[in-house]
Amino acid sequence: MYIVKKKIGGADYYYLRKAVRKGKKVRSEFVAYLGKNKQEAEKKAKEMNEKISNINKPEIKQKHMEEKIESKEEIKQKQLTIDELANFCKKKGFVYASGEIYGGLGGFWDFGHLGAELKNNIKKEWWKFHVYRDDMAGIDGSIITNPKVWEASGHVKSFVDVAVVCKKCGNKTKIDKHEVGKKKCEKCNGEFVSKGEFNPMFTTQVGPIKEDSVQAYLRPETAQLIFADFKLVQENSRLQLPFGIAQVGKSFRNELSPREFLFRCREFEQMEIEYFIEEGMKCPYMEETKAVSILVYSEEMQKKNKEPELIEIYDAWKKEIIKTDWHAYWIAKEYEWFLSLGANPNNFRIRQHCSDEKSHYAVDTWDLEYKFPMGWRELQGFANRSNYDLSQHQKYSKQNMEILNKEGKKVLPHVVCEPSLGVERAFLVFMFDSYFYDEKRGNVVLKINSKLAPIKVAIFPIVKQPEYEKIAKDIIEDLRKEFNVLYDKSGSIGRRYARNDEAGTPYCITVDEDSLKKKDVTIRDRDTTKQIRVKISDLRETIRKLINREIEFEKAGKLVETRVK
Ligand code: GAP
Repeated sequence: MYIVKKKIGGADYYYLRKAVRKGKKVRSEFVAYLGKNKQEAEKKAKEMNEKISNINKPEIKQKHMEEKIESKEEIKQKQLTIDELANFCKKKGFVYASGEIYGGLGGFWDFGHLGAELKNNIKKEWWKFHVYRDDMAGIDGSIITNPKVWEASGHVKSFVDVAVVCKKCGNKTKIDKHEVGKKKCEKCNGEFVSKGEFNPMFTTQVGPIKEDSVQAYLRPETAQLIFADFKLVQENSRLQLPFGIAQVGKSFRNELSPREFLFRCREFEQMEIEYFIEEGMKCPYMEETKAVSILVYSEEMQKKNKEPELIEIYDAWKKEIIKTDWHAYWIAKEYEWFLSLGANPNNFRIRQHCSDEKSHYAVDTWDLEYKFPMGWRELQGFANRSNYDLSQHQKYSKQNMEILNKEGKKVLPHVVCEPSLGVERAFLVFMFDSYFYDEKRGNVVLKINSKLAPIKVAIFPIVKQPEYEKIAKDIIEDLRKEFNVLYDKSGSIGRRYARNDEAGTPYCITVDEDSLKKKDVTIRDRDTTKQIRVKISDLRETIRKLINREIEFEKAGKLVETRVK
């Protein structure tokens, strides 16, 4: 086995790979993700090599590789239940039940001072990664629109679930129409009784005078306004096929049983792309899908009761497991986005929808799934919507939705892939993958990627004296031009570090005696607790480079002895 370094979003990622003979060919296969630090990666690789050589028992061999080689840290992470995460989020100011003082309201959540920052940073990073490309335009449609949009899209007629109650344990849930009579209760395996069909779109009246008002809907997906506005956006942006239109915003679904904290909400946000091509157009970016391996669980594997397989996305496309190049490309891209922001690759897989579970508009759908504490669940959907939506809007609006291709021929584009991600589910992923309990420190350390961290820098004067506070305030004034900075002067330095570890603050700056004389400060790194000394005049640039991973912490200043944690 050997270590491979890959650069993703400017950061180094280390992977363990192995050479496998297949017939006459020797191929390189992914084994595990080793983290971002070279020395730690080498240590992990050594441990894994030892562990794997000890594992020869057949019952263990049958389990998937990534389950065999979890590090201790990952095991700890897994033990955190969704309710424990919800408690942590409430305690630290990330998320509260909406209107909690009145008992909350199922499926609605308020984001506190840290949660709002984290959520905004997720959306900001998503927008930068997906929209700032030559082939993408970003829009912001309204939540309530002409109800005909939802008639055309098929949501009024076909966006329907069946409400069921378990005969044995009384569990209330929703199932798809095709699951009636087949699906058993996931809690006790009991039989379900149907309580009839329901449409999860929220309705509202537009117009204050009842007789004149119109019934409208709160949008259940952001996607539809991308289709309805397609012609205008294309004309104004002058984009040529292939190109995408992206949108981030609120969606609403009157879920029968909102549950599992942020996993299933009634009000949530989506980050969606409709990627338009002329039918048959090849994806020119397939090289980018090489060396990106993920657990793949195709419809065939599910039907034959096979285990998911770890496959390079490029190979999955070449072997026609993933049918279209664009589908494979966007899956690889989205997975890369999560990894570039610190998510743990061992918690991801992709699963193809079986033919009877696809949405009314989809030709083929894959989900990026995440190993939540409650099991593998959908994190992000990738539907091939063909030209269903544009055809429907053309039919209902009587407007021509065709555009000219490069040869000047009119075409009705196809959406061969729609990457659709819920902000709240991404929020959960980043929280789970960065939550660690540090035994030595005796507190939680939220090792969240610095680009996502709600507070980038906390500043502590070591003592509450005017000359120290003056320097701290001057630093804050300068840093606040770019970053969210916290001024924290109460409690021991250890307590202040602990508070900021739990909030995920990557850097803490201490103004001490030397700062008065030498005009420099210490910066403490959250993950290693190492400290460097940096000139106050260089602080803003140093912090910027650290956040963007353009410089290693130890090379950003003079390393100092650490006396306090
Ligand atoms: N435009 C396609 C679409 O909306 P979907 O699979 O229904 O497809 C896409 O939703 C994504 O939106 C999901 O993968 C999930 O991340 C998020 N999502 C859907 N329903 C949600 C809910 N009730 N609560 C939180 N997130 C949700």
